[in-house]
Formats: sequence, C-alpha cells, structure tokens
Amino acid sequence: MAFKKDFLWGGATAANQIEGAYNVDGKGLSVTDITTAGAPNHPRYLTYKVNGKLEKKPSAPGAGLPKGAIGAIDSNEYYPSHVAIDFYHHYKEDIKMFADMGFKVFRLSIAWTRIFPKGNEDKPNQCGLNFYRKVFEECKKYGIEPLVTISHYEDPLYLSEKYNDWQNRGMIDMYVKYAKTLFEEYKGLVKYWLTFNEINSTILMLTGNNNVEKGDKAFQHAYQKLHYQFVASAKAVKLAHQIDSNYVVGNMILGMLDYSLTPDPKDVLATRQLMEQGVYYCGDVQVKGKYPTYAKRLWGEHNVHLDITQDDLKIFEEGKVDLYTFSYYMTTTVTTHKVNEIVGGNFSSGVKNPYLNYSEWGWATDPIGLQNFLEIIYDRYEIPIMIVENGLGAIDELSEDDKIHDDYRIDYLSQHIKAMKTAVNNGVNLIGYTTWGCIDCISAGTGQMAKRYGFIYVDRDDNGNGSLDRIPKDSFYWYKKVISSNGKNLCK
Ligand code: BG6
Repeated sequence: MAFKKDFLWGGATAANQIEGAYNVDGKGLSVTDITTAGAPNHPRYLTYKVNGKLEKKPSAPGAGLPKGAIGAIDSNEYYPSHVAIDFYHHYKEDIKMFADMGFKVFRLSIAWTRIFPKGNEDKPNQCGLNFYRKVFEECKKYGIEPLVTISHYEDPLYLSEKYNDWQNRGMIDMYVKYAKTLFEEYKGLVKYWLTFNEINSTILMLTGNNNVEKGDKAFQHAYQKLHYQFVASAKAVKLAHQIDSNYVVGNMILGMLDYSLTPDPKDVLATRQLMEQGVYYCGDVQVKGKYPTYAKRLWGEHNVHLDITQDDLKIFEEGKVDLYTFSYYMTTTVTTHKVNEIVGGNFSSGVKNPYLNYSEWGWATDPIGLQNFLEIIYDRYEIPIMIVENGLGAIDELSEDDKIHDDYRIDYLSQHIKAMKTAVNNGVNLIGYTTWGCIDCISAGTGQMAKRYGFIYVDRDDNGNGSLDRIPKDSFYWYKKVISSNGKNLCK
C-alpha cells in the first residue's frame, strides 16, 4: 500500500531565498530586497525612507511597507536576498543534483519583479521570461515537473508602496495580469501552479509574531488584504483553466494544528476557534468557493468592515482550486489559563507542549500532527492534497573530510514520511511531497544561512562569505533511496 506509482517526490524553494541576482537583467526591487538579515532573537528589518529620511522597522515574511514609506537600500545593512545562493547562475548544476536524487517535481517561485519590474508595466521583461523558460526546460530535460508558486512572499516594492500592501483593489488586476502572462508563456512547460504561498500567514502572524503590529486596525488590514488576494487567486484559477484545461492550480496554506492544553471546555473552544481563524478561513474560501459561516464572528470580534462586491463572491465560486497544498513544520498548543512557558515557531507562538521535542529555533517536531492534519483536511475538502514544505532547520557542521552527517534531518524526515504513509493508508489522497529548502537557502523568518534545511550544503555564511560550492549531505543519498523505493526504504 502507501504511495501511488506516480507520487511526486521532490523539493521546494522560493525565488528570493535562492536566486540572488536581485538587480540583474532588468529585475526590479521586491519588498524582500529591502529586508535585512536577522537572527533568532533579532528581527529582520524593512528599510525605507519617510520624507527623505532613512528609517527601518521590524518585519515578517509577506508583510508590506508602512503607509507613505518609500523602500530604500541602506549601504550599512546586509540584505541576504541580493546574492542568496545565486541559483540564478547555478541553476543547471542545482537541477542536475535534484535529478541525481531522482526528483519528480521541483517547487520554485517566480519573482514577480523579474517579469514586471515595477509590477504594473504594459509589457513583461523578456530577460525575466527567458530565465524561467531556461529553468523549466532544464527540469524537463530530467523529467522533473516544475511546481510554480506565483507569489511567494515577494511583492514588487513599487506596488507595495503604491497600493499600501494590498489595501487597494487595484492590486487584483496587477496580480491577474502577471499570472496570465505566466500561464500563456509557459503553457506546455508547467502543469502545476500555486497562487499565493502560505496565504493564511497574514492572519496567523497577528497572534503569533512579535514583529508585526496587533489590534483591530491590524485585523482590518489583514482581512482586507486576504479578501483581495482571494479574489486575485480565484480569478487566476479561472483564467488558468481557460488557457489550458490541463493546468492544475492549488492554494497554499501554512499547515498548523492547534492542540488544547487542557480539557477545560474554554480551552477546547478557543482551540477550535483559533483553527478557524488561522487555518480553515483561507482554505474554506479557496476550496469551497465561499466565506464560511464563522467569518461573521471573526470579523465582528475585531470590528472589521470589508470592501466585498457581489462579483467577488461570484468569482469565488468560479475559481475554486483543484488542489490543496500546505507547508507543515510543527503544531502549537493553546490555553485560556495563565502559563509561563511560551514557545515560538512558524508565524506562531503557543504554550510549550510537554510531549514534544523542539528544534534549536524552538519549532516543535510532531509527525503525528502531520497525520492528523492530513486526515482532517482531506475529510474537510475531499480534493487531492500535496505537502509542499516540510523539513528541519538545523546547524550543519562540515566534517574534516568535507562531509555533512545530518542524521537529525534524516530522522525528522523519516518520521514525517511514516506519518504520511499512515494517512495515505487511512484513505487520504496525497499526491506529492516536496521537502522545504531541498538546497540550503536563506531563512525567510530570520534571514540566516545558518538555519539549513537542504540535502545539498551551500558554502555561504550569515555575513555573505563563502565559495557558494555545493556539497551533497548524507541526507542527499538517503532521499535518493527513499525516492527510488517510492517511500519504502527509509533506512539510513
Ligand atoms: C515557510 C515559508 O513559512 O517556512 C518558507 O513558506 C520558509 O519561505 C519556511 O523558508 C521555513 O521558515 P524559515 O523561517 O525557517 O525559513
């Protein structure tokens, strides 16, 4: 039993975390290009000018500029996206290594600003289109299916300034034009598309991230941004199907399961309501094509009033996704009682769970949570599912003979693949699995290189030093066996 013959094994990345070449061949600036490096206890900052004066504020992935700010690069700061791991010039070497592992699929995102440098030009930038064409052709050479995220925490800086971080309906048309350009340009080369990476992070970060503003105003901003993104996503899905009926378009949700710390009914209620707010809200709109009943309660709690039209609600119906995809790293624990130990995580914070182990970055390891999440989600939506991110961020040390013995990563991934098998045997229609950061890349949360997820080590440090050489880790050879045995052989 377990995985189907054509199960899509592979790995995942995002443009701003791997490509570098941030101002090459006509690319414009993205918000990530004015985002500095951080550390576990030190936020990443957005740098910008207000009335000509350089300022900065703590930020989180996907968050936009403050109103009235004009993004700026400060020559005294370090911006990890500017070089990243220079995939832009190493893509052939990297895709060959993915092929050596036997990848069936490679998830990558397109930098909007390579295609439309400001986001709103009449015509796309030909050099940008050519770059991704070459990447997709390279994948095809090895029989690797590209899985393309259209927007992965990477809005054009100009649009973020002009449209105040998706607070303007005008963003929808800009996004749809960009998506249409991709669907037409890469017809026949790409089959799988995802509209917005971790779309629900906008709302999750309001309860789980210390680097963003909180309060009713922030909820108003977040729910309005999400509404416009839902419309943009649904329009893109509809358009994709019109352009090529073979296109499979998915949403992408930050998969987070909340546990109740106690059996106190208040805790149980709070836990369910948090799942609705943080996870189900976005999935329900994108898969079921309408706002859920509990949406009114969520908006009411924060005095939110949205710009919604009848046409928006109609397009939700017409642009339902074909595929539910999600990232999965951890679970969180919720209580209404007073507790001392709060732990962080991927856009989350919660009570420490005494039954789980935590990574060096405080992220809980919970493979049973993955089984649980898969079964809950499949039961809720009954459409194909794909896990498009999962992995362990860890510090890797090079041994004296230039090897990386990353048993901890193999252990983490093995446990999660076992959980996937159980869920599949229990009836979940899981079609693929792409581990996060299959090649070491910049951390979205902290901007570090030191937080590594890859099967392939990249020689680069947190200050931008290193040869950028690629070295296969022990997990590289292990994943190759996993893929060739279609998930049966998980032995080290
Ligand atoms: C997800 C993002 O939230 O988690 C990725 O989609 C990100 O972009 C990944 O890199 C891991 O998070 P981090 O902060 O460890 O890079």
